[in-house]
Amino acid sequence: MKITVVGTGYVGLVSAVCFAHWGHTVTCVEADQKKLSVLKTGRSPIFEKDVEEFMRRYAKQLSFTDNCRDACKEAEAVFICVGTPEREDGFANLKQVFAIAGEIADSVEGDCVCVVKSTVPIGTNQKLDRLFFSRAKKGRRIEVACNPEFLSQGTAVHDFLFGPRVVIGVEKGRGAKVLRNIYAGYSGKLIVTDRQTAEMIKYASNNFLALKISFINEIANLCEIVGADVETVARGMGADSRIGEQFLRAGIGYGGSCFPKDTKALHWLAKYYDYEIKTVKAAIEVNENQKIRLIKKARRYYPSLEGLTVAVLGLAFKPDTDDLRDAPSLQNIAVLLQEGADVRVWDPTGYERIKSLYPHQITCCGTIEEAVDKAHLCFILTEWKQVKEFDPARYLKLMQRPIVIDGRNCYSPDAAQKAGIVYDCIGKDRVLPPNWQEELSRPLYLPLDGQEPSLAPHLYQRRA
Ligand code: UDX
Repeated sequence: MKITVVGTGYVGLVSAVCFAHWGHTVTCVEADQKKLSVLKTGRSPIFEKDVEEFMRRYAKQLSFTDNCRDACKEAEAVFICVGTPEREDGFANLKQVFAIAGEIADSVEGDCVCVVKSTVPIGTNQKLDRLFFSRAKKGRRIEVACNPEFLSQGTAVHDFLFGPRVVIGVEKGRGAKVLRNIYAGYSGKLIVTDRQTAEMIKYASNNFLALKISFINEIANLCEIVGADVETVARGMGADSRIGEQFLRAGIGYGGSCFPKDTKALHWLAKYYDYEIKTVKAAIEVNENQKIRLIKKARRYYPSLEGLTVAVLGLAFKPDTDDLRDAPSLQNIAVLLQEGADVRVWDPTGYERIKSLYPHQITCCGTIEEAVDKAHLCFILTEWKQVKEFDPARYLKLMQRPIVIDGRNCYSPDAAQKAGIVYDCIGKDRVLPPNWQEELSRPLYLPLDGQEPSLAPHLYQRRA
């Protein structure tokens, strides 16, 4: 089929190469000239496994342009894959979605299905339907379908091709037929429903996963107080298939382009209808506190962070991506700098974004060794393979004081014990070397769970 994909971010570009893999001809529209010129040379502007390989393999079926109107003219389906960032007031910003819809209305010549892949608040597809109806032209019909994405960064191509379900929200008409044809190469479960339900499946899925993470993080915090081990707790819970073992990894909270934004968007959507979705509100609050848990832990070793050298291992919100959107590293670095620490960072994907935020204030290191050398503290914020494989004994050798505060539980307490370091992770007893001056370590629960409102702004509140 002839498909146009508007927007070549994670969702758009991954969808485009996967549609090409299934035999369709795909035109991608990208307004950003820098990105477009990269795409035209066969390279991917996003850091995502398999994308470039697919671009090479299906080069004949893929084309790239900035001319949205030309690209839409003869398309049988146009996929809207543009961003819906968080607005100042917490709602999703739909400016780009409606701008593209306007272009589609002006340019499509025959029957076409406008497929919304961007995550949009419930009711948006219906609004788009009204827009196309009001701009109806003789001899053509534009139908609106909702086809949310469930792609995780780092495994997005695999998730697209082999994910557990594809959701299609359509009204009666040819939309369902066209989408079934497009997804003919997909062998998982196809759920065909109305558009509002499809929109809600997307929000409910992401919000539920966020809830699961916040729940296990609270259990982890409690584990630290009562002396239980959160990883074993998660294993024990996850063995029950009604609960499932995924998304029960305790840590320093969720980041990325979806969970933070989608939880807030659902919260504000519910508020709009005068309904308070309490579980989601709690998940947001827990996550904001969890992001700065390592700072609170650091206070157990140093009452003030001023003048300390702090190594930060990992900037990305998770491994196998270079994405810093809503990454806990941003909040941690901001607080460390604000408190007067000398911050040294290491991340294997480069420093372009962090340097644009802090051109002079932080030191970007080429190796983990360089970052931890003579440091007073080390924060682990992303569970990169390189960090997990870094021998804990090296911290003892290199650091001024071997205090490793791990927000991603990269090492076993046994390995830390053997290495002779202070190892303070999430949801487990901390490890202290035998000769450690205990008086320097404060009681676990008092400072950790006290309120520090200035560090943990309640971001679900409107910024008026
Ligand atoms: C997510 C959803 O998984 C995907 O279906 C949706 O379409 C987009 O949002 P993504 O943001 O790429 O994908 O990453 P994901 O792997 O879900 O992780 C999100 C955040 O949660 C990361 O910061 C990760 O570190 C954190 N996380 C995840 C945990 O803290 N614990 C877990 O058990 C799982």
